[in-house]
Parts: sequence; structure tokens; C-alpha cells
Amino acid sequence: PIPLVIDTDPGVDDMLALLVATGSPEIDLRAVTTTYGNVDLPTTTRNAHRIMRLAGRPDVPLVAGADRPLVHPYVSRTSDVHGDDGLGGMGHHLDDRPSANSRAEPAPPRAIDAIADVVRSSSTPVTLAALGPSTNAALFLARYPDLARQLDRIIMMGGAIAGGNITPVAEFNVASDPEATQRVFSDDVPVWMVGLDVTHKALVDRAWMDSLRDRGPAAQTAMNVMQHYFDWAHAQGRDRATVHDAVVLAELIAPGTLHFDTADVTIETGFGPARGCTVTTRHPAGRHRVAVDVNADAATTLIAERIAAVGTAA
Ligand code: BDR
Ligand code: CA
Repeated sequence: PIPLVIDTDPGVDDMLALLVATGSPEIDLRAVTTTYGNVDLPTTTRNAHRIMRLAGRPDVPLVAGADRPLVHPYVSRTSDVHGDDGLGGMGHHLDDRPSANSRAEPAPPRAIDAIADVVRSSSTPVTLAALGPSTNAALFLARYPDLARQLDRIIMMGGAIAGGNITPVAEFNVASDPEATQRVFSDDVPVWMVGLDVTHKALVDRAWMDSLRDRGPAAQTAMNVMQHYFDWAHAQGRDRATVHDAVVLAELIAPGTLHFDTADVTIETGFGPARGCTVTTRHPAGRHRVAVDVNADAATTLIAERIAAVGTAA
């Protein structure tokens, strides 16, 4: 199995990604680290505890990280998409007891120390999946350059070859901390970018959700959480919902689910209208990989199967 650290800001689609990871024998989830993002750090951390307990994996080290961007202040996001509590207003239905291995202090160095511990103790290269703003990833690269070189790769949900969801040219995770994302893309570590333009092709509908409702308590709770997110999409005139962060997990479990091209990526960090844009130049000698397409049926089917399998994986 792939040794994996998930850095996350749950978040409804982050919840799906964590459940997919814990329901998949191909993944050896070594640690979960949290960042501010969809909601503030105490809330994302509380949610991550809730989700790992729901998944039956309170044994996985869970460590809080950055509570704000590297350089500029944290601006809290409108709560429409993920609800005030980050879990569609349903978070109170999940178990709030902290996991045994948790360290609750929201001090920025903690998460990066946890990533360092995992990399140091692993006999094979570790993958870091960055599913929120890239602040923790950037801090890790800056603090532990030697360990960073031992990473297999950083795979991030963020950016887009073209388009955005926060502005016409900026995606939320990148726009939350453009300086951190630029730090990540300027490192020697291989970065695989899974952008919005591709995750927007792997949508789920009501039938997908309904098919998971009778697949055990974790899947059922997850679908209750997802209902608000789905209703929000519906209110925007869409009959299908995105599952962004879970698409990254589908690629890790079944390589080839996404198609990648080589590219150079730089981030617009100026304060003009293009702030947070991922400027992506595709060419054969590019240093990074950017997702260009997805087998949407394969991805959404796999995500459902693995959510249904939560609690049954070895
Ligand atoms: C990203 O932003 C968040 O809302 C989601 O969790 C995902 O990581 C999509 O732009
Ligand atoms: Ca996220």
C-alpha cells in the first residue's frame, strides 16, 4: 500500500476523501494533518477527528497545523458551500471525542513535525496529499528540505489549467494562500496538480448518494452530511455535485483514473484581479504534472465503493 499523509480542511469533499482513504487497502494512511480553509482551524480539526472516528480509525495520528496563510491574514469564507460547521450543519451527529493519538494544540509547527515523523520512519517514499490550502506543505518543505526530498510526491487538489471558483481565474485552495502554493511549485519535489477543470468532470448525482445510504453507518452518516452540500449545488441550478478532494484519492488508488500532462506551473501572487491564478504551461520538459482529464465513471464508482467499504478494509 502507498504510505500517505492527508493534509486537509474538512469540508464535505475532504470528508469523502478521508473515508475513501480509510476504506481502501491500497492506502496506508500514516497521518492526517489539518489546515484552516473551508472553515477555521479549530473547526476543521474537530471535523477531522469526527470523520476519523466515524471511519473507525481514531488510531491514525491527527495533528493540527496552520491556522492562517503564510504571509497574509486569514479571511473566513462564506459558509454556504460546506455549512457553518464545515459539515453541512450535520457535524453534531458525529462523535466528538478526540482520538487517542491526537495532539490538539493548533500551533503551526505541529503538523509539519508529524509529516516529518512519517517520512523519517517510512521505508518507502511517502505521498503527501494536500486537500486544502498549501500552507502546511510549504512550511514542511521550508523546515525539512532533506526529508522533503524523500517524498514520493505532493499531489494537490487545487488550481486549474483554466478557470476558477473564487474568481474567474482562481481556485479556492490556491487563492487561500497563493504564496504557499508558489513555494510548493518552486520546490524540487514532484507536484501533481488536480485542478477544478478536471474535478468538475467527475460529478455525482442523487442516485449516487442514495446508493450509499444503506451501505453501513459510516456511508449513511456521510450522505446525511453531503445532503446540505448537494442541496446547495441544486439551489445553484445544478443536479450534480462535485467531490473534488475525493478525486485525488481515486487516482492514488487506481493510477490512470486521471490523465496527466507535464507542465510548469507558477502562481500569480500579485494583488491584481489574477491573484491565485495557476499559470500552467504544458510542455514535454515541464517539472510538474497537471491533470488534464478524468475517467469520470471510474472515479465516482470507485469513490462510492470505497466509502461503502469503510470499516471493512484490513
Ligand atoms: C476545494 O476547495 C474546497 O471547498 C474543497 O474542499 C476543495 O478542496 C475546491 O476548490
Ligand atoms: Ca478541501
